[in-house]
Amino acid sequence: MCATRGHGPEHDVLPTDDACESDRRGRRAAARDAVTAVRGEHEIQQRLLRSLAAVLAEGSDTAEMLRALVRYSGRHFAGEEAAMRDHRYPEEAAHLAEHRTLRAQLESLRVIDPSTEAFVAAFARLAATLRAHVAGADARLLTFLERAGAARCGDLPSGPLSG
Ligand SMILES: [Fe+2]
Ligand SMILES: [Fe+2]
Repeated sequence: MCATRGHGPEHDVLPTDDACESDRRGRRAAARDAVTAVRGEHEIQQRLLRSLAAVLAEGSDTAEMLRALVRYSGRHFAGEEAAMRDHRYPEEAAHLAEHRTLRAQLESLRVIDPSTEAFVAAFARLAATLRAHVAGADARLLTFLERAGAARCGDLPSGPLSG
């Protein structure tokens, strides 16, 4: 927590205004970086989803494209989760629950025969859930991170910064 140096027993442990300002700049930069990273990752994730849909429509082997989507999505979710922790996002628990659902949907695709209607239906469910997640939970996270980037020193929570 940022505080102005004053008198009393806490005098030597509280950060100075300069330290507070430096902390604020660091947090703003971290929040901006997180916003840029999440936006870029969403574009890649959507591209992978479209590619998998195209491979499925062609009747080609989906295994490689599905592996890429599962792997990339796992890394992307982990990145968002780190940003939520680092910036003490108040809706973290609800967002994590949606990530758990998406991870389960992605994993379930790996065990369904891609030549079946069940796979097509499961893929459609995943795409719809992911679209809703990006438009809802992810959009709210991005708004929060953008606001964190503009917060005043005294408004910022203490805690580690995202790398
Ligand atoms: Fe998310
Ligand atoms: Fe996301």
